[in-house]
Amino acid sequence: MDTSPARQSYEELKQQIHLHNHRYHVLDDPLISDAEFDRLVVELKQIESEHPDWVTPDSPSQRAGGAPSEKFEKVRHPRPILSLANAFGAQDARAWYERIRKLDDRVEKAAFVVEPKIDGLSVVLHYRDGVFVQGATRGDGEIGEDITSNLRTIRAIPLRIPVNREQRVENSQSDGQFSLFSNSILPNYLVVRGEVFIPIKDFETLNQKLEEAGEKTYLNPRNTAAGSLRQLDPSITASRPLTLLVYQVVYSEGGGVPASQWELLDWLKALGFPVTDVARRFADLEPAIVFTETFATRRDDLPYEADGMVLKLDDLRLAADLGFVGKDPRGAIAFKFPAREVTTTLNAIGVAVGRTGVLTPYAVLERVNIGGVNVERATLHNFDYIAEKDIREGDRVLIKRAGEVIPYVIGPIIELRTGAEKPYVPPSACPACGQPVEHIEGEVAWYCVNAACPAQLVRNVEHFVSKGAMDIAGMGIKIVEKLIEAGLVKDVADIYKLEREDILEAVTKKDRKTEKEPPGKIAENLLAAIETSKRQPLNRLITALGIHGVGETIASDLTRVFPSLDMLMETSKDQIQMVEGVGPNIAAAIVDWFGRERNRAVLAKLKAAGVWPTASPSPVHGSSSGALSGLTFVVTGTLPTLSREGVKGFIEQHGGKVTDSVSKKTSYLVLGEAPGSKLQKAQEMGVKVIGEEELRKLCGK
Ligand code: IVH
Repeated sequence: MDTSPARQSYEELKQQIHLHNHRYHVLDDPLISDAEFDRLVVELKQIESEHPDWVTPDSPSQRAGGAPSEKFEKVRHPRPILSLANAFGAQDARAWYERIRKLDDRVEKAAFVVEPKIDGLSVVLHYRDGVFVQGATRGDGEIGEDITSNLRTIRAIPLRIPVNREQRVENSQSDGQFSLFSNSILPNYLVVRGEVFIPIKDFETLNQKLEEAGEKTYLNPRNTAAGSLRQLDPSITASRPLTLLVYQVVYSEGGGVPASQWELLDWLKALGFPVTDVARRFADLEPAIVFTETFATRRDDLPYEADGMVLKLDDLRLAADLGFVGKDPRGAIAFKFPAREVTTTLNAIGVAVGRTGVLTPYAVLERVNIGGVNVERATLHNFDYIAEKDIREGDRVLIKRAGEVIPYVIGPIIELRTGAEKPYVPPSACPACGQPVEHIEGEVAWYCVNAACPAQLVRNVEHFVSKGAMDIAGMGIKIVEKLIEAGLVKDVADIYKLEREDILEAVTKKDRKTEKEPPGKIAENLLAAIETSKRQPLNRLITALGIHGVGETIASDLTRVFPSLDMLMETSKDQIQMVEGVGPNIAAAIVDWFGRERNRAVLAKLKAAGVWPTASPSPVHGSSSGALSGLTFVVTGTLPTLSREGVKGFIEQHGGKVTDSVSKKTSYLVLGEAPGSKLQKAQEMGVKVIGEEELRKLCGK
């Protein structure tokens, strides 16, 4: 080999670039700036243009992505690339343990390694004498496809191992080989397996860029990673934010490989491979199960999508001796998290009419189970979203349901189209009242502007009686619908005219069976709640009116400046805009609302019924406000900035009450990190869950 100083400094430079690449893409701990790194690469390319014969496949310059190919060549894997059997809970995991314990006594004393199960694509990477020479997809487990050029573009994949040459020097042995651990020599042929994926943040950035460019966005990180890897043109792969984590040695020749999974992860890391940093080793199964189960609630803390955890026997010899069933090794099991994304058929697109007349499309789905919950409806956000994603009736669609989020349609699976799908045309008339719909300039939403629209009235009344507004307990949606249907409630003020007989009528026979209370009692309670609501403070009544853009916070802000509805009704847009937090659009909406004949008539009726609270003006800039008055809070978990006492003080200062347990009277559960059982209770009781930020927003902070 050429030992000239020029050649040597070229080799040095290559090594340096590998090292910085590793620091940046694997360790996430760069030593030099991006600009400095780019300069090194320019220098390298300069040398290579002068000495093209020096360039080897492990040169950092080879990452850019070579020429497109016609098709992928087939690669036979040196050992079968196995899959994993699934466990859907602790019982399954224990059953797995029992099965293998019966097969081999050593299992009794075995330790376990738990690793995240990354939702990406399995790849197989071949290294000869430390150089990355070939990479393949899993394929059918026996034969995969050669995607070497594509994999080369992924910077987390070392083109040469060990990346850290210092280590090699420190550990070098007399025979010229090197060891990373006292008893292991780097194999001259090493085949490792890992998972290629796109980190969630990078995926979001990618989609944001596409959206800004007016292009179609991707469905989810996994599908995008899969599509990116199977590109015949590697420059496309190079443009996608792919990365990987390595977790297995598939095959090796010469040298030694650790026989413990735990040590293997360390060993792979020392060679320069990216390895998960959330793996844990357990001496017994039970704590491993507990770790796995608690991790399910923390899966969103991971920077990538994980669909479960993998429970592995730490002893790799024992694992190998146990063999496999079909394609699943006995020595490991995938402990799956509840699924959050599923595919189903979009049977139809329905349209709901909201309180303010907003038309909201929703998906009517072929029923599907997501994480233990049956889902038949999902949101489609708005009509623009349907158009952007080209969602059609009859499509196979991907649905996501995560945590507190309402299930939504991510998008159609275009590949599964049969041609029978119908492109969607938004309605030109309100589906509830048949009146033409309108679009407000600058907004995505379409509105039904017919004030007498029955669908709007139902939502209006529902909002008027809701907890944050007039808080009329017992006035459920069914009763509201019946009262409107019977013509007893034509606007919200009619609520105060209701009599016992009217309510008895509305509680139908069918409901009577399911209700625990006798109808007479229901009517009494409801009438009492209606009566009590007359004493709600002004901010509640303003919220209850349902003016576009006026929620609880703004209603409270308005109350502080305009202590009566008589004042607010006669105020100009400019004066309203003086209130902190109220912009021109909301101010205009308020003036518009009070200017409408129909609304004025409702207000007159409310006043006549004695629903006309006034507020005692409070200091606008004072530290305390009554923004939370009448509201009851329960706090669970650790909040980002407020301590337990701090949050209590904050809520009380703003007029709210804090109690210890969730009940029907709870207005909000304030949720922090690592919540307790209160969260589940709140969810079961339908109590609104908010974070610290939203709590502050309620107070206009
Ligand atoms: S171990 C014999 N470990 O999950 C080894 N697999 O459903 C078998 N996966 O095909 C695989 N993260 O693509 C293993 N830490 C991890 C993993 C992992 C993701 C994937 C892998 C496999 C699939 C099994």
